[in-house]
Amino acid sequence: MRSETLFDEDGHRWLAFGRDPNKRDSVIDTNEYVILSDGKALILDPGGIEVFPEVLSAMTRHFDTHQIEALFASHQDPDIISSLPMWLDLCPGVKAYASWLWRSFLAHFAMGRDADILPVPDEGMTLTIGPKKRRVELIPAHYCHSSGNFSVWDPTAKILFSGDIGAALLPDHEYNFYVEDFAKHVEYMRGFHLRWMPSRPALQSWVKKVRALQPNMICPQHGAIFRGEDVGRFLDWLDTLEVGQIHW
Ligand SMILES: [Fe+2]
Ligand SMILES: [Fe+2]
Repeated sequence: MRSETLFDEDGHRWLAFGRDPNKRDSVIDTNEYVILSDGKALILDPGGIEVFPEVLSAMTRHFDTHQIEALFASHQDPDIISSLPMWLDLCPGVKAYASWLWRSFLAHFAMGRDADILPVPDEGMTLTIGPKKRRVELIPAHYCHSSGNFSVWDPTAKILFSGDIGAALLPDHEYNFYVEDFAKHVEYMRGFHLRWMPSRPALQSWVKKVRALQPNMICPQHGAIFRGEDVGRFLDWLDTLEVGQIHW
């Protein structure tokens, strides 16, 4: 599994993990992200059980498991959080944040540690990481695509983690962590968004909120990262995309 440092300033780092060349074709490719702030780690969408050994091995090249303070699940899907019981088992005391809507569903694979799944209210909340208590905001992204869904905004790094919003299904030869040719990239995103995003008003509301934040990067859970001018290009594309249509 490959990794990339997205931001590194004053003890505050963003790491991206993904593009495992040994991943089985039947398992959808995912990106996992870590905010490592003054020695403490918050893992964003830690991934599925199937990729857990590779994710763990890649992450522990950068930090030890005792440094993990919290996990965050943007929503309930297996590719997002079915590794939860492994992380809870490995990291005593770690807390997992997810929408209140999914808490009692995720408890089905919490192996008795459902008290460590902390509910995020619909309006979102602030998390802090590490001894300096650096702030990140959990921003509502409901119906994009899950009915209880959040993005993560880091005002220090000016990076937004978008979960499945902005996801792309890349062919095997596309190894780059960043979008390189936006026009071409749209073709990898369109089908995913048309099928998985049920609500245009919900997407447009999310776009409006994200534009106001002026992120330097938008990091999805599948596919490549938008940075620089591609952030605006992506938001413009999403704002006009007619999702939620019935084609059959
Ligand atoms: Fe999903
Ligand atoms: Fe996903």
